[in-house]
Amino acid sequence: MTKTDEALLEAFAGEAQANRKYSSFALQAEKEGFSQAARLFRAAAEAEAVHAGNHLRALQAIKGTKENLREAIAGETHEFKEMYPEMIEAARAEGAKAAEKSLSYANAVEKYHAQLYHNMLEGLETIKERYPYYVCPICGMTVEKEAPETCPVCGVKGSMFRIIE
Ligand code: FE2
Ligand code: FE2
Ligand code: FE2
Repeated sequence: MTKTDEALLEAFAGEAQANRKYSSFALQAEKEGFSQAARLFRAAAEAEAVHAGNHLRALQAIKGTKENLREAIAGETHEFKEMYPEMIEAARAEGAKAAEKSLSYANAVEKYHAQLYHNMLEGLETIKERYPYYVCPICGMTVEKEAPETCPVCGVKGSMFRIIE
């Protein structure tokens, strides 16, 4: 990898993190009643998303959808097979309860992501059906077509799931 690509990759990671961080900060500002500060966090979050996307394009890291699906499957699979299990073990060993829960939620959901991506890759050119996805606001559980009665990962009511149309 060239120095430039290394720099772009590092900058992409930083911008992507800043995007999510500012989105979370915006929610916190709303909770505290600072609506204008919340707006600023949302605006900066949007700008960081633009930067992240620009870096990714400069890296030529966005391929065709088939290849992108394969990359997504590999990433999710690495997370639930190698990355998260080790992290969960370490958190458990340190008695870090909140970390263990957060990591375990993600670990459980990445398996579903890998499966959804796999099915999408298989049916990419043949499936004509159109349907929404539903995402759990607590654990990120992702399901297609309709929300479950209760979340199979965290147990929250299905009516809380967010629809992706
Ligand atoms: Fe930025
Ligand atoms: Fe995932
Ligand atoms: Fe959930």
